[in-house]
Amino acid sequence: MKITVVGAGNVGATLAQRLIEKDFGDVALVDVVEGIPQGKALDLRQSANVLGFTHKLVGSNSYDVTAGSDIIVITAGIARKPGMTRDELIGINAKIVREVVEKSLAVSPNAVFIIVTNPVDAMTYLALKVSGLPRQRVFGLSGVLDGGRLAAFITEDLGVDARDVSPCVMGEHGGSMVVYPRFTTVKGKPLSELVDEAKQKALAERTVDGGAEIVGFLKTGSAFYAPSASIAHMVNAVVADSGTRMNCAACLDGEYGLSDVVLGVPVRLGRRGIQDIIELPLNAEESAALNASAEAVRKMIAALNL
Ligand code: APR
Repeated sequence: MKITVVGAGNVGATLAQRLIEKDFGDVALVDVVEGIPQGKALDLRQSANVLGFTHKLVGSNSYDVTAGSDIIVITAGIARKPGMTRDELIGINAKIVREVVEKSLAVSPNAVFIIVTNPVDAMTYLALKVSGLPRQRVFGLSGVLDGGRLAAFITEDLGVDARDVSPCVMGEHGGSMVVYPRFTTVKGKPLSELVDEAKQKALAERTVDGGAEIVGFLKTGSAFYAPSASIAHMVNAVVADSGTRMNCAACLDGEYGLSDVVLGVPVRLGRRGIQDIIELPLNAEESAALNASAEAVRKMIAALNL
C-alpha cells in the first residue's frame, strides 16, 4: 500500500507519524512550503532504527513522489484561528483542495480520497465534483473525531472505560452536527437510558464545541492528536479492507431521504472506500435534526459556486 498525506502541518505530520509507526505501507508527505515535508520526513525516518518500521517515507513539494498511491489524505489548508468559524475557512481552503485533488489524481488515478480540510463536508463535496470519482471513493473525516470527543466526555462524566463507549455523532462536522443519545451506547446500553435529558444536552453541546474548546486553549492552531488518530483509524479500515463501521462524511444519494449533499453518516469502509451507507431508524425529531444539518451544509456548498 502507498498512502499520500498532503499538508505537512500539525494534522498531516502527526498522521504521517502514526501511519509509518503502524507500518501500514509506504507514506508520501507533501506540502507547498519548501523544506517542511522533507525535514519532517527525514526526522521521522531516523526513528525507524529504534521503532522498527520497515516501509518507506518521503517528503516533497512535488506530487511525483505520490504517484501510484492507494489512499490520498488531504489535510492541506489553513487551520481555524480562535474566533474563526469553519464556514469562514471555505473560500481559502476550497482553492487549496481543488488544486491538491487535481494534482494528486493526475498521478494516482486509482486512489481513495480522505478529506480532512475544513469545512470538511463542503470540501468533500468539492473534491467529489472536481475529481469526477464515484462517491464511494471520496469521503471525509467527521463522525470518528466527533464521536471520539463525545466518548471522551462520557468517559469523564460517567467514569466508564472509553473502550465501552460506542458514540454516534452524525451530520455536519460543524455547528449543526447531531449527537444521537439513542444510538450512542455504553456497554451496549443507550446513553438516553443512562443519563437525564439535561446531561444528554450538556454532553452534546460540549461535543459540538469540541474543536473550538481546544482552539481556545491552544490560541494558535487547532486540534491534531485526536484528528490524526481518527484518520489513521479510517486508513486502517481501507488498508485492511475490513468493512469496519464508522461515521464519515459521505455524499448521500437517497439515504435518509437526502441527495446531493455530504453529511456524516454511518458507513462501512474497505479497500475501495465506502462499501455501504447504513441507515439508522431515526424518529421524526432525529430526522429533523439531520435535515437541518443537511441544510447548513447545502448553504456552504452553494457558497462554493461550483
Ligand atoms: N498544497 C499543499 N499543502 C498546503 C497547501 C497547498 N496548496 N496550502 C497549504 N498547505 C499546507 C500548509 O503549508 C501547512 O503545512 O497545509 C498545512 C496545514 O497545516 P496546519 O496549518 O498545521 O493545519 P492543521 O492543524 O494540520 O489542519 C489542517 O485540517 O483539521 C483540519 O481545520 C483543519 O483545515 C485544517 C486542516
